[in-house]
Amino acid sequence: MGKREDVAELFNGISDKYELANHILSFGLDIFWRKKACRKLFRINGGEKIEIFLDVATGTGEVLKVCKKKNIKYSIGLDPALKMLKKSKEKDQNLILINAGAEELPFKDSSIDIIFVSFGVRNMEDRKKAFSEFHRVLKDGKYLVILEFIHREKGGIFYHLAHFYIKYILPYVGGMITGNFKAYKYLSYSIDHFITANILKNEVEYFGFKIEYIENLFPTVSIIIGKNEKN
Ligand SMILES: C[S@@+](CC[C@H](N)C(=O)[O-])C[C@H]1O[C@@H](n2cnc3c(N)ncnc32)[C@H](O)[C@@H]1O
Repeated sequence: MGKREDVAELFNGISDKYELANHILSFGLDIFWRKKACRKLFRINGGEKIEIFLDVATGTGEVLKVCKKKNIKYSIGLDPALKMLKKSKEKDQNLILINAGAEELPFKDSSIDIIFVSFGVRNMEDRKKAFSEFHRVLKDGKYLVILEFIHREKGGIFYHLAHFYIKYILPYVGGMITGNFKAYKYLSYSIDHFITANILKNEVEYFGFKIEYIENLFPTVSIIIGKNEKN
């Protein structure tokens, strides 16, 4: 697995039960994680006007539902999995949605105010190409927010329990909820084999972002917010 089309097909296959499975598998924590990342972003951004808020790997549009603010003019969701996008359209007819991958963003240079990626960078075919695209399309001084499952250099008992759960229990429970064991085996594997927050932070910095904020959330999720620096 790894090709963008394969990953998109996998998400198309679980789109009907994706949200339900997330809420059950995370004991509702996924809702809290997204809300927390949005709140942090809005605090850092202050009252600054947001012309375009781009939710990359939007899936069923959970971030667009949570990250709503009066100072956002346009909210756009982008994802290569069409059936996931259709689910977000069912929730909100007014959303602007684009069926594409993060590696080739159909936007002009310096045209976007915020890029938000929630549980998406892990699944990208070419994460580094996506980061370079984020740097290109974001305006100077504007923010990239990443919310992702990560590995910690040092983790406590709950961290280890969470990884045991992700590796050995999640594939079966996810499979039972959605009827798609293959998809949840892949998702479990992709979490278990992802990089540390420190490596992710270094990658983001390498592609032209100054790290403004990092927070490790219980038990194994991190928020990273980088400010785009073009000069
Ligand atoms: C785990 S879901 C996350 C969805 C949503 N952001 C959320 O918080 O629930 C990952 C999403 O990444 C999308 N995806 C996979 N490869 C991608 C790529 N190369 N570029 C953008 N999105 C991608 C998948 O189609 C899927 O909808």
